[in-house]
Amino acid sequence: MRRFFRPTWAEIDLSALIGNLRLIRRRVGPRIKVMFVVKANAYGHDAVLCSLAAERARAADWLGVSSVEEGIVLRGAGVRLPILILGSLYPFESVLAAAAHDLTPIVASLESAKRVAEAARRLRRTINIHVKVDTGMGRIGMRPEAALALARELPLLRGIRFQGLLTHLAKTEDRTFTLRQLEDFKRVVAALSRDGLRPPLVHAANSAAALGRSDARFALVRPGLAAYGLYEGFAPALTLKSKLVYIKIAPKGATVSYGATWRAGRVSRIATLPIGYGDGYSRALSNKASVLVGGKRCPVVGRVTMDQTMIDVTGAPRARVGDDAVLMGRQDAAVVPVSELARLCGTIPYETVTALSSRVPRVPVGP
Ligand SMILES: Cc1ncc(COP(=O)(O)O)c(C=O)c1O
Repeated sequence: MRRFFRPTWAEIDLSALIGNLRLIRRRVGPRIKVMFVVKANAYGHDAVLCSLAAERARAADWLGVSSVEEGIVLRGAGVRLPILILGSLYPFESVLAAAAHDLTPIVASLESAKRVAEAARRLRRTINIHVKVDTGMGRIGMRPEAALALARELPLLRGIRFQGLLTHLAKTEDRTFTLRQLEDFKRVVAALSRDGLRPPLVHAANSAAALGRSDARFALVRPGLAAYGLYEGFAPALTLKSKLVYIKIAPKGATVSYGATWRAGRVSRIATLPIGYGDGYSRALSNKASVLVGGKRCPVVGRVTMDQTMIDVTGAPRARVGDDAVLMGRQDAAVVPVSELARLCGTIPYETVTALSSRVPRVPVGP
């Protein structure tokens, strides 16, 4: 763990994380494999920490990252689980780098399949690939007919093993839209099967689909959000903490921070926290969010600055310099959920946690 002096850090509860992964396993059943999605530094939770914990606890069968770079970091840290690169591999030189680090690529064109075959020849080994079908996400993936045509060509390309077929769901809150995506995907699976092409890992489901509908599970599910406890019924793994490093009495009428957007309506105790938007605590939270001190909600006053944020602790009279402050997560009976901060910023929990910058040390707690 990195040594740090500035008292701002994110605690990562590895017991909660492992508990969440095990709960996902129980909910989807023992025959279905779990790919733990750890892209974007495990949604800000520290990909190395989370991946090693999941591997040690045998709580995941696969890991999903977004790029070769993310996969290389995990391999460098000693992660041995199979890793799928969920993003596109371009330029094609990255195929060689992926193979050299035993990272499984996704293929979504004949051109990229040929490049993988070329890399396999150069490395004198077989490379597993997963073929991506676009059923409505419109990001990376081949339309069903094109994916079928590609899959039928794969046996002609030596050095490739057709290990997986996947799609990504675009609107899981809409059951009809999702059903149509799944039906299109199943048609591809069935047509391939008739041709004797049966990749062992067929997958489509993110957290919402894995937990919400059994028809989306196939052979493997790809949860991110639920594993981090950012989904109904799961335990949040991340707590963003800081400490009160300065307290002053603001007389009635005093203003706080840039633009003087907050003015004391009464004599107030104002505390300063050494955290700001440079840490990923959004400036959009200025004058809106609450921070927990001594189990009480204290409002953010004035603008969040790059490195520091002020809160009004008048309602927490026992608050002292050196006390812990929780900006995201639970303190005693009080909680500031990630979803609340996301809503205040007009965004989604994914963005709120991935925004936490590298300046914030991640501190593992739990086993
Ligand atoms: C291809 C893919 N699969 C799975 C996931 C995990 O989704 P969730 O975090 O909603 O479970 C993502 C996340 O964006 C993704 O891009």
